Amino acid sequence: MQQKSGDSFWSNRFTFVLAAVGSAVGLGNIWRYPATVFDNGGGAFFIPYFIAFFTAGLPILILEFTVGSKWRGAGPLAYARINKKWEFLGWMGTMVAGMIVFFYVVILAWAVNFLIFSIQGMAWGPDPGGFFFGEFLGATGNPIVLGAINWPVVASLVVLWGGTWLVSSRDLKSGLERFNVILLPLMFIFMVGLMIWATTLPGATAGLNALFTPDFAVLATPGVWIAAYGQIFFSLSVCMGIMITYGSYLKKNSEITNTAMTIGFADIGIAMVAATAVFSILGYMATQQGVAVDDVATGGAGLVFTVFPVAFNLMGAVGPWFATFFFLVLLIAGMTSFVSLIEAFSQPFVEKFNVERKKMFTITCIIGFFASLLYATGAGVHLLTIVNYVIDYFLTIGGFLQVICVIWLFKKAPEIQAFVNKNAYIKITNWWLIPIKYIFPVVVAAITATWVVDFIGGGAAAHSTEVLIIVHGGTALTMILGMAILPRIKWRRNIEDYEKE
Ligand code: ALA
Repeated sequence: MQQKSGDSFWSNRFTFVLAAVGSAVGLGNIWRYPATVFDNGGGAFFIPYFIAFFTAGLPILILEFTVGSKWRGAGPLAYARINKKWEFLGWMGTMVAGMIVFFYVVILAWAVNFLIFSIQGMAWGPDPGGFFFGEFLGATGNPIVLGAINWPVVASLVVLWGGTWLVSSRDLKSGLERFNVILLPLMFIFMVGLMIWATTLPGATAGLNALFTPDFAVLATPGVWIAAYGQIFFSLSVCMGIMITYGSYLKKNSEITNTAMTIGFADIGIAMVAATAVFSILGYMATQQGVAVDDVATGGAGLVFTVFPVAFNLMGAVGPWFATFFFLVLLIAGMTSFVSLIEAFSQPFVEKFNVERKKMFTITCIIGFFASLLYATGAGVHLLTIVNYVIDYFLTIGGFLQVICVIWLFKKAPEIQAFVNKNAYIKITNWWLIPIKYIFPVVVAAITATWVVDFIGGGAAAHSTEVLIIVHGGTALTMILGMAILPRIKWRRNIEDYEKE
């Protein structure tokens, strides 16, 4: 009999930590974080970022592990068990995972191609920006003009989805767990190696100064705060169903607080390592070209694919080695997160429809391949930039609704504290409750209200009406439809049948 839901557990705490850190550390740390810091005031961004970590990221990580572990299920099942009417909240995380997974894999596909270009001796030539958007992506310049399919990206997608199927369709221990146990230590060594190498480049200090010099004026901008919360959630893999699903694979009486702290600090630590490497390379590049770091850096999706190849070109003979090493790290870190996104997207359906894991993950990989083709078109990079940006709102709202549901409406905080503290080295007391119950909801409500006012008052004008309707509206509609329809489908199991504590 193939593995179904409810009979899979992590082997031990170590493998769980590796898998969860593998999920947390990914493109969010290397591709998204440095660009987000750069777009949002450089060093000053650390203030909202750390506030977001302590008031929301870490407390919600503990909350999600507990929800998965105590109510024994991925998001929809766990929330349905808390209260049937709130099953939609579980599906919200599943849908967010789905939204991310389809573009995430395309960035991995770019990384595969850039890895090959690096090995071929930096085949992007003397103008990497022009190469990336022109020859490589065939970008159309408009998110609603699809343009041509990019066949090298499609070929990489076949390999990535196929490889993921081989890992994810197996049972937990021989698939996901083994994959992380092998790749995570490798990624960690490579990442630290990359940082050390990058900081020894001439001019690295100029980049680090740019990274750590704060522009405090940005703190008055609500978008910066949303970006900080969104970045923390994206990077910690919370509010997207992953950590609830991973929590559901914890054995009874597992320790949660210390584990969550290890994972949280490892993630922000590695984000800092990645940012140090990225900004050292930018500093090197600026120094070589005799310009300021601000003039060479760029935010958005292109940073690592357009700016970095310029730096690698400047390095001469070691350039291809450095480039190969960099894209390999990006790929490995991204793969361990990608498999967790697939897990969060598929396991809810395994549980809802009581189907075999292998069958469900096969369906996911096939559908996922076709869905991701949308981003393999000439519009892909633009679509992906918008969806990646819109995701921040769903992540933040998802976090907010989880707190409202679990803590405020159903008053589960005492039960959660009792459950966690029973096996805790570090007990969750007011340091957990006050931020999650009061600070986070107030901050989110305030920044969302200010953002809505800003958006209506001018922010929306930055996008054309077609883009607002088709991309922003389409993303929101897909989410809302998923949350409305999926909870109405009957469970193919008795959801009350589980071991309560
Ligand atoms: N947490 C994952 C990442 O940072 C999704 O890439």
